[in-house]
Parts: sequence; structure tokens; C-alpha cells
Amino acid sequence: PPNPLLLYSFPSDDLPRALADFVLKAQKESIEKKGRFTIALSGGSLPKQLKELINDPTVKWDKWQVFYADERVVPLDHPDSNHNLCKSKLFQHVPIPPANIHHIDPVLLDDIEELADAYEKELIREFAQKDSARFPVFDLILLGLGEDGHTCSLFPGHELITESDRWVAYLEDSPKPPPKRITLTFPVLNHASRIAFVAAGAGKADVLPLVLDNPEERKLPASLVKPAHPGQLYWFVDDAASVNVAFS
Ligand code: 6PG
Repeated sequence: PPNPLLLYSFPSDDLPRALADFVLKAQKESIEKKGRFTIALSGGSLPKQLKELINDPTVKWDKWQVFYADERVVPLDHPDSNHNLCKSKLFQHVPIPPANIHHIDPVLLDDIEELADAYEKELIREFAQKDSARFPVFDLILLGLGEDGHTCSLFPGHELITESDRWVAYLEDSPKPPPKRITLTFPVLNHASRIAFVAAGAGKADVLPLVLDNPEERKLPASLVKPAHPGQLYWFVDDAASVNVAFS
């Protein structure tokens, strides 16, 4: 059975520091073990929560291998691009080697299926020979939570929820714009060593208890994130997001 989830709630001003400390601990353990740190980032409001990593001298940027948990199929300099967002909020302020950021560039391939295949191959290059696992084992995946319970670009009721084979999938009918997206799949999420959801603000207050309490009943995508043992699931939330959560 999966490890029980760990839920941490902070005043909203304290969340970025707590998240940075958590990321740094994961970084340290991963580099000690394997000499590298593989992380997948989401877009939306997540990148700005990583601001405490800027100017932190203990981040070993040259050891990071960054992938995107999901990406909107728009040019890399478009305001909707998750890569663009991560760049403007984080990467352009830190000395990370550009080759360590594995972005998805729709300008290179205008067929979305080929784009998803190419990203899967990029993951295989990073993970397959090194870990020789059926699915990549990320050291850390950082996820956001949609108000409808989606995470990555895995939406309630969408057929991609049941994808059990592919590492990377695409969709052209995302209910949250833009409609064309590339996403990691549940098997990839659930093979990670650690996953942390980050949910902040009153907009998440209604959905959070639906995801955390009796998740089996609703099968919201965010409640289907259950890393296989020994993987660990964490939630980093702020006071406003967790106002309806009963802490035991
Ligand atoms: C995306 C995101 C998505 C996001 C959630 C939450 O590309 O849209 O990666 O999965 O994390 O929609 O978004 P917010 O953090 O902006 O509320």
C-alpha cells in the first residue's frame, strides 16, 4: 500500500521558504545517492512559489535535470507556456545550465503526437539506461491542483486518466485553456520517489477536502496520485487553501 500522505499547512508568506527547504532536502538526498537531481515542474501558480530558491547558495543547479509535468502547446515565449513561466519566475534568475532544462518546443514539431513522442524519448534518454526501470523514477515531482480536481493536464473524466503504458501523452480537448497540452501520465507520477502538491489561496479551499477525504468516492485526478511504496506524497498548502480541511 502507498505511504500515508503528509500534509503541511503554512501562513501563505511562509509557504515558499518551507517548500524551498523541502526541495533542498530532496536535492541533497538525490545528489548524495546518484550525483543528480531529477525534478518535474508544473505551471500555473507553482513557479512563483519556488522564489526562495533564487539566491539560495545551497542549490546545486548544475546537478538538476528539469522536466515539465505538463506543458501547454504554445510557442516557448508565449505567456501561456509553462516553460516561459518557470523561466521568468525562476530559471532566468539562477545559474542553471540551459541543457539541464528539458522543455517542449512545439515550433520544432507541429504534430502533437510527434511532440509527445519526442518528449517521451527525451525522458527515456535521461532515465532508461540510468535506472533501467519500466517507468522513470523522478526524485521529485511538484504538482498544482486545479479547482476541478485536475493535476498536470489530467482532467476529471478524461480518457487519459486510465493511460497505463505511455510516459508522456497529449490531449487536444483540455477543458482549461489552451486546449492542446502534453502531460506526464499517472504511471510516471506514481513511480516518483516524492511528489509534492502545492496549493495556495482561497480558490483551492472547496476542492481540497474533496481530494483528501474519501477520495475513492470521487476519483478526482489529484486523488489518483498515490506514489507506489517507497514513494512519498506530500501536500504543501497555505491557510487559505486548507480552511475546510480537518487536521487530525
Ligand atoms: C497547467 C498546470 C496545471 C496547474 C493547475 C493548477 O499547465 O495548467 O500545470 O496542472 O498546476 O491547473 O493551476 P494553478 O496553480 O494556476 O491554480
